[in-house]
Amino acid sequence: MRGFFITFEGGEGSGKSTQARLLYEYFKNNGHHVILTREPGGTEIAEKLRDIVVRGNKQLNIYTEMLIFMTARSDHWFNCIKPALDAGSIVICDRFHDSTIVYQCICGGCDTYLVNGIYEKITNGTHPDCTVIIDIDPVTGLKRSFAKKNNTDLRFENKALEFHKSVRNGYLSISKSSDRYLVIDGTKSEVEVQTSIIQELRFKYLNNFN
Ligand code: TYD
Repeated sequence: MRGFFITFEGGEGSGKSTQARLLYEYFKNNGHHVILTREPGGTEIAEKLRDIVVRGNKQLNIYTEMLIFMTARSDHWFNCIKPALDAGSIVICDRFHDSTIVYQCICGGCDTYLVNGIYEKITNGTHPDCTVIIDIDPVTGLKRSFAKKNNTDLRFENKALEFHKSVRNGYLSISKSSDRYLVIDGTKSEVEVQTSIIQELRFKYLNNFN
């Protein structure tokens, strides 16, 4: 039996980590078996790789960067996500492959065809059942992010505003490519955003959550 796979995506400070946690609590309180995980990260090896790409201000070639994210994803997929889905759980993941498509391919110039090819090999063509994109203007998002985070994990936040604008446009553009995407306005209050996500999920995937 296969579980249900939900990913959260969005630019910096969009509130997706908070919303991923709130959705996790919602499912848990309703008696579902659910796990909450994140990328880059989610396994011991992937968390180590996370430190390399998220911390500090190091200059990495875009292919080096992409391959680190893909290596972390491969370990996370085989040792966490796939076993949980195979066991019938709901898996909620804070960022996933769409982050690589937006940050490293659309914004960084990596070859999307190649990157998707690696992804398909790892996951055997399995995609999230639903991807929630929390959309927010990058100026507002970056303000939130700088106010909240410790100042060692800001390698991406420190990029130019133009980069963050293309991240937002990248997400809006891929959101039109499949009906698995839900685009949610991230400027509303935490509770309003949570309510919209649950309503949309129930509306679209009712049979999965009885
Ligand atoms: P994180 O501290 O988790 O930021 P956020 O709270 O915004 O998710 O840092 C993850 C950073 O890594 C984020 O800026 C986006 C970036 N990233 C990529 O560039 N490619 C990827 O494939 C993933 C998973 C993340």
